[in-house]
Amino acid sequence: MKPQISQRGRMMPASPIRKLAPLADAARKRGTHVYHLNIGQPDLETPAAMRRRLDSAPSVFAYTPSGGTAECVASLQEYYRGHGIVLDPDQIIVTTGGSEAILFAMTACAGEGDEALVVEPFYTNYMAFATMAGLRLVPLRARAEDGFHLPPIGEWSRALSPRTRLVLLCNPSNPTGTVYRREEVETIAAFCREHGLFLVADEVYRELVYDGQTATSALHLPDMDEVAVVVDSLSKRYSACGIRLGCVATRNRAVSDVCLRMAQGRLSPPGLAQLVALGASDLGPDYAPGLVAEYQARRDVLFDGLSQLPGVFLRKPEGAFYFVARVPVEDSEDFAAWLLSDFSFQGATVMVAPAPGFYATPGLGHDEVRIAYVLNRKDLEASVQILAHALPAYRTARALGPIGAPTGATAEAR
Ligand SMILES: Cc1ncc(COP(=O)(O)O)c(C=O)c1O
Repeated sequence: MKPQISQRGRMMPASPIRKLAPLADAARKRGTHVYHLNIGQPDLETPAAMRRRLDSAPSVFAYTPSGGTAECVASLQEYYRGHGIVLDPDQIIVTTGGSEAILFAMTACAGEGDEALVVEPFYTNYMAFATMAGLRLVPLRARAEDGFHLPPIGEWSRALSPRTRLVLLCNPSNPTGTVYRREEVETIAAFCREHGLFLVADEVYRELVYDGQTATSALHLPDMDEVAVVVDSLSKRYSACGIRLGCVATRNRAVSDVCLRMAQGRLSPPGLAQLVALGASDLGPDYAPGLVAEYQARRDVLFDGLSQLPGVFLRKPEGAFYFVARVPVEDSEDFAAWLLSDFSFQGATVMVAPAPGFYATPGLGHDEVRIAYVLNRKDLEASVQILAHALPAYRTARALGPIGAPTGATAEAR
């Protein structure tokens, strides 16, 4: 008899971001240049101050303490202090990327069959982590017209069930680029306190907020010590996705204890990454403002360019380095595949992430794509030109009629 894969294994979703990769490879083999607007892999250099730390790598790559080295934890403490958040060392558990932090937080805060409320569209990998942790994600819909800000609190109350254990809030948001206002975070924090829920706040894009604004951390709010569980990552703020370092930061002792025990189970976060992370303390005061200015300029190139294209709708993204744009197509998965397989403009095309993969509710996102701006400005300008030519060409290829004519799927999805 053949052994059978587990039920949980069968339910594990494939990454909708990576599934177009073979088409991109084929385009490249044909000699077409592909601009990657589909994935959050920053092109900026990891700061030299961090790379230099590898010069002092030890002669034995040993396990480190499960919750992170004392030096790494202290450097994270210092980082949080710089953001007005005071934490004790045992309130920070160093993890293998923000990804492990999400899994630890979900597993610590909820059990098999429990529910987590999450605003959709959401970071698509939440689905994979929820599947691993045995949780059900209960989506609340945010809308493009509102800049994807939070739905009214009545909708949150209606989504509650006896199995609800936590709210998962990504602020600033991947995929929408929305930065929730302080009042919004306070409203959700009060909702969590009232109903005995954890607020698992994914703040990996904390500093990437534009137009002089800042993001409110769940750890900034009063009366949240038992409730707030922040998941964090060094990937994005230091252009260091490959080192795989993040943390869980919480003042809830039971949660940090459980996370530490899970951390012990997997022995150690990556040692070399913790060494590299120490270099963040050497970055001058200009580092974060410089990073923000660069991404803001990129956001502006894309927002100014794309919002002028007929049939494209987006509100100005406020943070992170993504946004979800409505585009004049009926099937964004087909459009994204067609861009790679059937289209090029001056020898190049773009790869975008179809939005359905960011929704839990079937049928949503078919007229939306997620775009990441992790390319230089010149490449982003070229990408806008490509999309300007691609959209009418696609509509002709699929006999959708001129832009502006309403399409069935668009009307239904709204
Ligand atoms: C919202 C969000 N949370 C967590 C992560 C995971 O980060 P890491 O690379 O640290 O695992 C990502 C990565 O794209 C993300 O966008």
